[in-house]
Amino acid sequence: MRYKTLGGTGLKVSEMCLGTWGIGGAGWDAYSDETRLDAIHAALEQGVNFIDTAPGYNGGAAERLVGRAVRDMGVREDVYIATKCGTEYIDGQYVRFGAEKDILRECDESLRNLQTDYIDLYLVHWPNLNFPFSETMGALEKLKQQGKVLHVGVCNFSREQMEQATQYCPIEVYQAQHSMVYRDNEAQMQWAASQGMGVMAYGALGGGILTGAIREARTYAPSDSRNRFYKHFQEPMFSRIMALLGEMDALAAEKDGMPLAQIALNWSARKDFVSTCLVGAQTRAKVEQNTAAFDHTLTDGDIARLDAAIEKYL
Ligand SMILES: NC(=O)c1ccc[n+]([C@@H]2O[C@H](COP(=O)([O-])OP(=O)(O)OC[C@H]3O[C@@H](n4cnc5c(N)ncnc54)[C@H](OP(=O)(O)O)[C@@H]3O)[C@@H](O)[C@H]2O)c1
Repeated sequence: MRYKTLGGTGLKVSEMCLGTWGIGGAGWDAYSDETRLDAIHAALEQGVNFIDTAPGYNGGAAERLVGRAVRDMGVREDVYIATKCGTEYIDGQYVRFGAEKDILRECDESLRNLQTDYIDLYLVHWPNLNFPFSETMGALEKLKQQGKVLHVGVCNFSREQMEQATQYCPIEVYQAQHSMVYRDNEAQMQWAASQGMGVMAYGALGGGILTGAIREARTYAPSDSRNRFYKHFQEPMFSRIMALLGEMDALAAEKDGMPLAQIALNWSARKDFVSTCLVGAQTRAKVEQNTAAFDHTLTDGDIARLDAAIEKYL
């Protein structure tokens, strides 16, 4: 595993951060709690020291599994936990909050779920324009002063929103979607990095499509994240990405059958504005395949070839 400094937080985080949306148990394929706990154990065993979770991942279920795994392994002081506020999962719906009293309540619930008395990184999950940034960010500043939260960041904000919000509590980390098949946020991620923020790229496997495990169009349940959240699984993107996978297959064959997931993660990790790649996986085998991506690097020529294929097909 390789490590990078997460912007101005100074935290030395693994270049792979374990994502736990699927591990929460809603919106992705189903596994037993034992399998999911084992996936978290596997990540920590392979040198991952950064875990991303949220109360919005199935009503705190993901946070509770993270809390259990970290407690069972006795590694709280060696692991950085990022969790979020402002989005909860209630009766199968994602509901947004932004009032100070709700942020303070959510933080206490997350601390209980995670079985800890501090959160290393607390992120606003989505901008909520029904509340002034002074209120939401002011609540985060209060939590920092109370010592419940050590560092603060935001997800899914525009540059303008970050410029406004940071006045009320300094934003140290920016988390946004970024992968070979989704580059819309690249300019603001570059800007965030230039401002000294740590940058977390989520969906680095394109919701799984970049692993090559899915080669035929399928109909997913309305609640499935591959239906409602990631648009890569629907036409016209699906066919374009299949063409891109063809180029990745050719590169993989030249690299002794390197798994496509490792090619995709290497491509992400090579971006100088990315501090860490967020990867969601619910089994030990997948986690181990993904962490192994950070034991080697693609050449500049490989990256140029992938960039040309992205340009051609997407
Ligand atoms: N801030 C935000 O708004 C936001 C939004 C989205 C995501 N996130 C964070 O980012 C994390 C990562 O994103 P994501 O989970 O949405 O998408 P992702 O990591 O791009 O893809 C997850 C999918 O890839 C599959 N997968 C993982 N490794 C694999 C492998 N080696 N071979 C085959 N399939 C593999 C997973 O399978 P299984 O599930 O079956 O193991 C799952 O279906 C999330 O878990 C979450 O922590 C944050």
